[in-house]
Order: sequence, then structure tokens, then C-alpha cells
Amino acid sequence: MHNSPTFTLLEAARWQDYELLDSGDGLKLERFGKYIFARPESQAMWSRSLPQREWDSAHAVFQPTAEESGGHWDFKKRVDEKWEMSYPLAKAEQLRFWAMTTPGRHLGVFPEVAAHWDFMADLIQKAGRPVKVLNLFGYTGLATLSAAAAGAQVTHVDASKKSVGWARENQALSGLGEKPIRWIVEDAVKYMQREEKRGIRYDGIILDPPKFGRGPKGEVWEIYKSLPHLFEICRACLSENPLFVIATLYAVRASAIHVAQGLDEMMKQHPGNLDSGELVTREKSANRLLSQAVYARWWAG
Ligand SMILES: C[S@@+](CC[C@H](N)C(=O)[O-])C[C@H]1O[C@@H](n2cnc3c(N)ncnc32)[C@H](O)[C@@H]1O
Repeated sequence: MHNSPTFTLLEAARWQDYELLDSGDGLKLERFGKYIFARPESQAMWSRSLPQREWDSAHAVFQPTAEESGGHWDFKKRVDEKWEMSYPLAKAEQLRFWAMTTPGRHLGVFPEVAAHWDFMADLIQKAGRPVKVLNLFGYTGLATLSAAAAGAQVTHVDASKKSVGWARENQALSGLGEKPIRWIVEDAVKYMQREEKRGIRYDGIILDPPKFGRGPKGEVWEIYKSLPHLFEICRACLSENPLFVIATLYAVRASAIHVAQGLDEMMKQHPGNLDSGELVTREKSANRLLSQAVYARWWAG
């Protein structure tokens, strides 16, 4: 057991290409690079602050359907099929990546998660030794690329060939083509079972699982059933001297306390620090916070 985890509202405050302009009435208005989008945000149970004309300036509005994550983009103005965005890394480097409107309402980046990129990059840079990182459910690769830019050797796993392709394009765009990254299209649990058998060990693990997902062969991922098992296999795949583990959960009915307790159990043999909390974004209009996800993180020390 570690000491009771601290509870933090983590804000990714260094973005220049992303802003939460306003929120309210079940919606959020955001800028992703040169475009503005309005998307549903069921937790925004207050009134919008900006006048209607600002909301009308959105390039596209996501119109949800009744079923979860279904819907379509209603384009009000021309939007390129893909456009470039960036995030400032250490040493004046930039993470450069492609943003795109996707049918699932996302745009290729979860901006609030950048707080984790900064946190692990700092740990990797200060480690003073080679660091092997595993990024499970890696999506478009931005955590992978931040870790690689900081000097880690990274294994990136995602079930979607398309996401991995997108992540590799982001690698090229960021000028990180020479970095040691293994790109794997595979079911996260299956892959980890194999890694355990092969005796492959990692110093840092990033877990960013969806609520529900499928592996390439139809393997079912269900957060409440699958995560405890994944924690267990990940524990077996930790090096003798782990540096960090970060777990982030979106859109689920789970308290950060529960994620922290799962992580506490996973890391019980390793003395270190445990922190949990919410990933939040601060609105530009009225300074309110939008909570986007819960997380727990362990790090050595
Ligand atoms: C969108 S990201 C994570 C971001 C955020 N946590 C969320 O829930 O939306 C989820 C990623 O997990 C991948 N994924 C879903 N099921 C998977 C599985 N069984 N094994 C590996 N990756 C999976 C998806 O392809 C996707 O890129």
C-alpha cells in the first residue's frame, strides 16, 4: 500500500493551438488550430457565456444521434480534410500532428491529456538511464511521440490499423522518424499476454483505454471487466525499476479513487508516489472548468 493518493485537477495549460472557448447548455465550443467546432458535452450543465454569433462562427457542429458516440458533422464552412496542429515540447521542439473530423466526434487529439505528456517527458529526461515505454490504446500516437522525443524507446499498441497509420504520419510530421518506436496493430490484452510470456519488460506504461472497444479480431474490451486483468498483466511486464504508470479513463462512471486503488494494487511491490484526479480544461470565456477524464498515476521516488 502507498500513502493515500493526492487528488489533483490537472490542467494542460501550455496549448497554443487548442482552446476551450465556451461551454454550456450541454455543448462545448473549441478551437483546434485554425478551425472552431461545437460538440456535445453532456456535463456542461450551465449556460453558455459567449453570444450566439460566436457559436454561429463554428466551422462545424457535431450532431449526435441517440446511440452513444453516434452522429455526424454538420459543416457550416469549408474545413480541410486534415490540417496541422502543434504542441510545444521541451527544448523548443514541437510535436506536430494532423487533426481531422472523425465520425466518432473526435479530432485526433484529446488536448487535456497533454498534462500527462509533460509529466512523463520530465520523468524520462531526468531518469538518466534508457527508458522503455509502453503505450496501450495509443490512438494517434501523441503520447508515444512525446515519450520518444524525451528520449524513451516506445512500443505503441492500438487495435486500429487506421489510427496506427495516422500516428506514423504524425511521427513523420514531427520529424521524429529516427526515434526507436515499435508500432503494433493488436488487441491490447492479447499483446500483453504475449509480452509477458516473452519476458519483455517496461519502465513506463501508459493506459488510455476506451469504455468499450474491439481488437482487430473482434476481441472485446469492456472497461470494468477488462481493466483489472490488464493491470495484472501490466504488473508482470514491469521492469525491476519502473519509472511511471499512468491510467486515464474517459466517459465512464468511475471515480479517480477507484482507478487509483487499482493502480495501488498493481504497484504494491514498488515504493513510489500515487496521485489521482481529473483532467480538466479551463474555459476562456468564463474561466469554468470542464472535467474530461479521471486518471491515476504512479511514479518512482
Ligand atoms: C480513442 S483512444 C483513447 C482515448 C480516450 N481514452 C477515449 O476513451 O476515447 C482509444 C483507442 O483504443 C483503441 N482500442 C479499442 N479497443 C482496443 C483493443 N481491444 N486493443 C487495443 N486498442 C484498442 C482504439 O482503436 C482507439 O484508438
